[in-house]
Amino acid sequence: MRLLLVTVLLTVALAYYVYIPLPDAIQEPWRLMLLDAGFRATMHLASLKAWLGFDHYIRSLRQSMEGFDDMALSSESSGGVMPGVKVSDITFAGIPVRVYEPPAGGEGHLRRGLMYFHGGGWALGSAKKGSYDTINRMLSDELNTVVVSVEYRLYPEVHFPVPYLDCLAAAKHFLSPNVLARYAIDPERVAVSGDSAGGNLAAAVAQEVSKDDTISVKFSVQALIYPVLQALDFNTPSYLQNQHIPILYRPVMVRFWLQYLGADLSLQSQWMVNNHSSLHHSSITPELRARIDWTVLLPPKYKKSYKPLIVEKDSQGSAKELSGMLDVRAAPLLTAPEVLAKCPRAYILTCEHDVLRDDGLMYVRRLQDAGVKVFSDHYEDGFHGCFSFITWPFEFDVGKRALRGYLNWLKNNL
Ligand SMILES: *[C@@H]1O[C@H](CO)[C@@H](O)[C@H](O)[C@H]1NC(C)=O
Repeated sequence: MRLLLVTVLLTVALAYYVYIPLPDAIQEPWRLMLLDAGFRATMHLASLKAWLGFDHYIRSLRQSMEGFDDMALSSESSGGVMPGVKVSDITFAGIPVRVYEPPAGGEGHLRRGLMYFHGGGWALGSAKKGSYDTINRMLSDELNTVVVSVEYRLYPEVHFPVPYLDCLAAAKHFLSPNVLARYAIDPERVAVSGDSAGGNLAAAVAQEVSKDDTISVKFSVQALIYPVLQALDFNTPSYLQNQHIPILYRPVMVRFWLQYLGADLSLQSQWMVNNHSSLHHSSITPELRARIDWTVLLPPKYKKSYKPLIVEKDSQGSAKELSGMLDVRAAPLLTAPEVLAKCPRAYILTCEHDVLRDDGLMYVRRLQDAGVKVFSDHYEDGFHGCFSFITWPFEFDVGKRALRGYLNWLKNNL
């Protein structure tokens, strides 16, 4: 009897921990709830370990996530994917990279090239791990592409601008004519790509390469998967609508930004209410504000009845962080139209159930306004991170469709 009671109580407690209300549009809701519970448990454990003084919060998160990866990897290696792709771990301008070369030899005909920056809030993830490895092998094999996945440095070891500078250095090396020739890559068909924080780095690097006259070979396309693009407004319709949707909760994204910009983590609550970008800051000019003004840049369908949150006067100025969040290398959405006009044509993937949806959609609009050709690939049933969940046990139909959409676009446009 007592055992039964304990079992029932434990089951209820577990269900309570796992269950979260999700919008009807999200398919396979239980799978997402279980995945999310896994992540939340991992974060709780990391907080506990950090509180007890065992390890840095981020480092223990990484350790647990490697456990997840190994699980996914072992199930995948039994399938023996793309045995023909040659993989080498080397360095580009001192930055560790993993290069995937397609089986079809370079003899006589040139191949495509693609540089990839992984996601993980500038703090987690790896160029070589988990689904990134699987996706890059597919890209290399199916599209006859030389893929270079960059192992840029992460928080807490470094913060902005180091991850960006690592990516830029690797990109410049990749685009140099002798390196492209060595890999038999067509200089007219080189892409830069990334997801989430990696999409941020890809957009920023694409802008820098586009405006730097000393770089002769440019990226021909940029493919951004739910990119992070600005840190001034954490109250866009998508930040509000999706604040409780796994796996990227609104406070988690704000925390990633604070970490990236080297700001005090205690500012989180201020940033959540846009106190960091109040009208009090004269350096945030009306011109800059217009570049992230979702009331103008978003189609009505996404604005719904949300109201902009613009704070008149904040409690105290935070000048140090301000320089980072106004830096276009950290916030590519703030870039001037003249620079955007030089950017390569773009594929931008957005998900309806993602706090970053509006960052991506605003960038679509701003690039188009600057005359750049953009393909906007929006997934009504997508959630942040779905692109990475393509292998058992955490495989989602929408993730597989998103990956297919991305591969097909590159096949036809790169
Ligand atoms: C934001 O700033 C206002 C002052 O304008 C202050 O009253 C409020 O407490 C601040 N909010 C947070 C969460 O710090």
